[in-house]
Amino acid sequence: MEKLVVQGSQHLSGTLSISGSKNTALPLMAAAILGGDVSTLSGIPNLKDVRTFARVIGYTGVDVSLNPDLGTATIDASEVTNPEAPYELVKRMRASFYMMGALLGRCGHARVSLPGGCAWGPRPVNLHIDGFRALGAEVELDKGYVTATAPGGRLRGGRFKLTPSSVGATINLMLGASTANGTSIIENAAREPDVVVFGEYLQAMGAHIDGLGTSEVVIEGIPALHAADFANCPDRIELGTFMIAAALCGTPGEPVTLVGGDHTQLGDAFIEAFAATGAETEYGTDAIVVRAPAEIQPVSVETAIYPGFPTDLQAQWTVLMTQAAGNSKITDAVYTDRFKHIPELRRMGLNAIVVDNEVVVEGKTRLSGAYVMSTDLRASVSLVLAGMVAEGETHVQRVYHLDRGYEDLEGKLAAAGVEVKRVSYDEFADPEHEPAHA
Ligand code: UD1
Repeated sequence: MEKLVVQGSQHLSGTLSISGSKNTALPLMAAAILGGDVSTLSGIPNLKDVRTFARVIGYTGVDVSLNPDLGTATIDASEVTNPEAPYELVKRMRASFYMMGALLGRCGHARVSLPGGCAWGPRPVNLHIDGFRALGAEVELDKGYVTATAPGGRLRGGRFKLTPSSVGATINLMLGASTANGTSIIENAAREPDVVVFGEYLQAMGAHIDGLGTSEVVIEGIPALHAADFANCPDRIELGTFMIAAALCGTPGEPVTLVGGDHTQLGDAFIEAFAATGAETEYGTDAIVVRAPAEIQPVSVETAIYPGFPTDLQAQWTVLMTQAAGNSKITDAVYTDRFKHIPELRRMGLNAIVVDNEVVVEGKTRLSGAYVMSTDLRASVSLVLAGMVAEGETHVQRVYHLDRGYEDLEGKLAAAGVEVKRVSYDEFADPEHEPAHA
């Protein structure tokens, strides 16, 4: 296995670049299945989740060719021979469930494994299934698989309200509804930029969609979409993570430059909370410049759907708040049990009280380097951030979680002055015999 070894007391300086969005790349790849020909997507990050999804799509007979150097995915969807997504692949990544909508939309039939739980707790797909039923699919659950069929080969369309609003269910239903034999209305639809950019790709493929970016999306089905090339947007969560890193570890008053990101996709709540920490930020068209404050102000946040504070940035925010001039509260209202990073951060000195979905974080905490374990994607990057500000050396183990969603994190941080390296290790080795700098 691999881990990142992070030297503490680091100052971030210089420039960090933002990669293409993971959470948009995946539905773009799913949408290409509807194209019926060759589509090339650009801005596709070199990530484990992207490679996993390429395998999921490849399983159906569609040809996917990833070019990590160019950042492209070329998807030849001329033929779908096997409209199925097996457990062995779906269990690795829940977003594989997008195959349900893509295959229903393309073939009128899909057999997709139910994703299991997630590292931080249950993540249901009931809305996806009920939504497909509302659009006319006959859905059966058997032996861990969901089988859905559109009578006559096309969904008929229909109205469905998402309670709560869901990014994944909105995307999945839009995939299916694009080729329905009627109109579909998704109420309380997700407004996240990932959904909007994905919807713009469907439009580029000929889909008739109104209301993107609002809570009511209307899709007038057409018999088939056509292939199209498309450029992915930058990763807003990576941008937010690097902004937090700059406020946490930048030299106060000195610029850290972030290139290639789009701050308009972060949502107002994050931008306002970030400004309230005292960090100075210049939002230019080509670059975002962040200057760390002399003293980080405590800022309490509560996650919410877009444009609320993103749940995918709350673990990183927790680390920032350990260095604030007072106590703060972080509430996750989207995923109420997403706190697996807390016990690991406690090993580094975090003082926090967790009650239900709230964490009260003590500021001005001296963190110290330790061996810690990644539990999920955002938790693992929070451990790297903690390692950067801690005293001594931090070993962030099971770094494969991080590789799902951060492209070359250690390379980017190293280029901005952080001493961090990737090291192989034996998870079951006697720690007494593991050299400190293995
Ligand atoms: C996506 C993102 C993830 C992010 C999340 C919330 C991808 C690949 N992942 O996940 O990084 O943390 O949005 O912004 O884009 N829910 C149900 N039933 C369902 C589906 C969802 O009750 O069938 C609930 C969930 O438990 C959660 C809420 O809806 O409380 C929002 O989840 P959702 O937006 O669906 O998250 P994902 O699309 O899985």
